[in-house]
Amino acid sequence: MDKEMKNIIDSMKTFEIKMGQVEGIPLPESTCEIWDQIHNFQAREDDILIATFPKAGTSWMQEIVDLILLEGDVEKSMRAPCFVKVPFIDLNPKPMKSGVAYANTMESPRLLKTHLPIQLMPPSFWDKKVKVVYVARNAKDCMVSYFYFQQMNKGLPDPGTWDEYFSKFLAGDVPWGSWFDHVIGWWKAKDNHEILYMFYEDLIEDPIREYRKLLKFLGKDLSDEVLEKIRHHTSFQAMKENPMTNYSVVPAVVFDQSISPFMRKGKVGDWKNHFLVAQNIVFDEEYKKRMEGSGLSFRTQL
Ligand code: A3P
Repeated sequence: MDKEMKNIIDSMKTFEIKMGQVEGIPLPESTCEIWDQIHNFQAREDDILIATFPKAGTSWMQEIVDLILLEGDVEKSMRAPCFVKVPFIDLNPKPMKSGVAYANTMESPRLLKTHLPIQLMPPSFWDKKVKVVYVARNAKDCMVSYFYFQQMNKGLPDPGTWDEYFSKFLAGDVPWGSWFDHVIGWWKAKDNHEILYMFYEDLIEDPIREYRKLLKFLGKDLSDEVLEKIRHHTSFQAMKENPMTNYSVVPAVVFDQSISPFMRKGKVGDWKNHFLVAQNIVFDEEYKKRMEGSGLSFRTQL
């Protein structure tokens, strides 16, 4: 290991997680510190942005879109870990470079990632009419996935017990804020911007059908054979075994995969193994109130 990497890892061992807020949305303090740079980020016309609430299948979509752009060239898709290929513009993982700084040095066309709710989006994405692929995942599975992720990701606050986390998630007191506001905000925005709104559950159900929506949106045409290759390479099992997508290159002091692997289960309906009967009743009541009239519906089982 070179000296610079050793220094980075040593500094991470002692880092303390602090959260801040931008317009009431909880974000890592390191993100808040460079908020001006994020807000003033200069998008380019040929950027493609993948936007999600955390744990909705961001890395999965990154791999799929990258392979579509590469017309199924698996070797090229393995040129770097997924979080290096696709800068995360609202992350500032000190002492490493911020997502904005990475993106600024990248050649076009760029694939970018954000978890920002719609109201915090840097305006240049809309000025430049950037194409955005939004992936939404049902709240119950998102909550379970985020609970495990906040345990293993030492860059995020400890989630506490499942019971505590259940209340925090419902209240929007988790990094990047309320799942409800996020999915609804982006849903409404799709009427005014170039946004393809996709669902994790649809991708699980029939990936090839969903790739065709992406092809149309991105103006690409690929053969059935190439689509099958993409399906194979982006399957849960393949991504779990691929060091470029399973985050095994991230040191354990940051992602402790002995607590929970990044590629955890990849299923629809795992919430049933975690939600207590009483929690499910509370959740369904709140869900009904919050989602009423939104025109959005999710599947929590297939
Ligand atoms: P689980 O924790 O439910 O397993 P994100 O990339 O937004 O952080 O999302 C991570 C979630 O997507 C995890 O969910 C992970 O297992 C799942 N995921 C990643 N790649 C997947 C794939 N190829 N197929 C299905 N699910 C995948």
